[in-house]
Amino acid sequence: MIIHVFNSQQELNQAGAGIITALIQTKPDAVLGLATGGTPVGIYEELVKNYNAARVSFRHAKSFNLDEYVGLPDGHSESYRTYMNHHLFDHVDIQMEETHVPNGNADDVDEECEEYDAMMADAGQVDLQILGIGHNGHIGFNEPGRELTAGTHRVELKAETREANARYFPSIDEVPTHAITMGIASIMKAKQIILIVRGADKAEIVERALFGPITTDCPASLLQAHPNLVVLLDNEAGSGLIEQ
Ligand code: F6R
Repeated sequence: MIIHVFNSQQELNQAGAGIITALIQTKPDAVLGLATGGTPVGIYEELVKNYNAARVSFRHAKSFNLDEYVGLPDGHSESYRTYMNHHLFDHVDIQMEETHVPNGNADDVDEECEEYDAMMADAGQVDLQILGIGHNGHIGFNEPGRELTAGTHRVELKAETREANARYFPSIDEVPTHAITMGIASIMKAKQIILIVRGADKAEIVERALFGPITTDCPASLLQAHPNLVVLLDNEAGSGLIEQ
């Protein structure tokens, strides 16, 4: 595991975007695993800048997103498909048909999950998986519990996850109760994982995830077993580690 702690959001964003840019420069047909939420927004902004400066082209790249809410209407402002289009896909030259986000409106969600895993298998190994982390240690929407699931599956969101994401909705009642998420095995199969964490409110979970026991009670703790994990933290998220 390699941990970098940054003094500013800008340095963190440039470092994150730099890793993705360097990968695509050397492997133009890279398969990217992408995340949504507040954490990666600045990294996507830097990636768009790199694209506009002709430092990178996504023309041959493919992407698979970690997750999507179940039941938000197509085009809903808070769906993760809308988020990805808005923050990245609409501004770069990736082929839209090579961008994949689970369909949270599928008639048969189980079938959708199986198809998503099959598409990922067809695409080959994810070269680089971007991850954020929930305050409860979730990655993707793999919530803490007695068991974790290997492949893409439907999940009931924990109350704390719905509360954290309520900031994007008019009220908590409008936050979906369920989502589709890649499973832990899908995430762990990636060749490289970049875990990005910002803010003092995540310092404790960062410490638990990276140095606590490996347990399903903290799904991110499984990342300790990944052979190529890079962690990008701002000073605040890294404060617990620096004090050690
Ligand atoms: C998003 C995702 C989630 C978020 C996590 C942190 O696709 O899979 O695991 O990374 O909930 O969210 P933010 O970045 O909003 O704090």
